Amino acid sequence: MHSEAGILVDHVSRTFSARGAEVRALDDVSLDCPPGSFTALIGPSGCGKSTMLRLALGLDSPNDGRIFVDGVAPFDAAKGGATGVAFQDAALMPWRNVEDNIMLPLDVLGRKRANYREKVAELIALVGLAGFEKALPGELSGGMRQRCAIARALVTTPRVLFLDEPFGALDQILRRQMNTELQRIWMESGATTLLVTHGIDEAIFLADRVVVMQSRPGRIGRIVDIPFARPRKPELFADPAFHRLESEIAEALDGH
Ligand SMILES: Nc1ncnc2c1ncn2[C@@H]1O[C@H](COP(=O)(O)OP(=O)(O)OP(=O)(O)O)[C@@H](O)[C@H]1O
Ligand SMILES: [Mg+2]
Repeated sequence: MHSEAGILVDHVSRTFSARGAEVRALDDVSLDCPPGSFTALIGPSGCGKSTMLRLALGLDSPNDGRIFVDGVAPFDAAKGGATGVAFQDAALMPWRNVEDNIMLPLDVLGRKRANYREKVAELIALVGLAGFEKALPGELSGGMRQRCAIARALVTTPRVLFLDEPFGALDQILRRQMNTELQRIWMESGATTLLVTHGIDEAIFLADRVVVMQSRPGRIGRIVDIPFARPRKPELFADPAFHRLESEIAEALDGH
């Protein structure tokens, strides 16, 4: 067992067989995300990013290798409430209001809602949804729904946070606002975070490390360290050093 918290992916492979053909979604992938770190995972469509997240959430099992989340097996981490997750489409329950959506993981884990009143109010303020507690998802903008999903991911005070393209549906301006908010939320929560994104700029702005994956078979091609001090400001997007990293990662994505 891995003694520390964080995320440890140790020589993991996952192969799918579909209609006689084998797809090697992950091929001997190893990745160590130390406690409190922020890692961005970027790579072409189908390179195994979501597969890696599903394995780390205990929703699927590897054919080979091991994964530890917060020091234990993924399923145990999720069952104990150590894991938080937000997906691209927000995936809110349309008939539950903001507050009830945020409390969904508590219901799933069988925890008493009454013990979390303060926490939920704090989270709603944190993601800027105060005043919208009773609103239904259909009454919110796309960005508000995404923020609600992030609050839901944080309700159990997870030590490990998985985000699969959480801002995929947003326009560039809103996306940059959300990047700044996510940085703040991450700095306050201290959660080990693994973000899947197609945005090179988003990855550099947020992460300590950008992991570039290749597809067929899904492998880690390159790991790029991001040296910028925090908190990072939106001006960073225009910095020449930022642009150099963007080119470096774009080249790695092209297979150089
Ligand atoms: N349950 C499954 N059954 C069969 N094949 C699967 C299954 N899940 C994933 N795959 C295959 O594994 C590969 C990796 O898929 P995955 O969803 O991890 O990609 P991804 O990197 O998240 O892509 P995207 O950026 O498009 O979301 C793909 O070729 C996909 O077809
Ligand atoms: Mg995916």
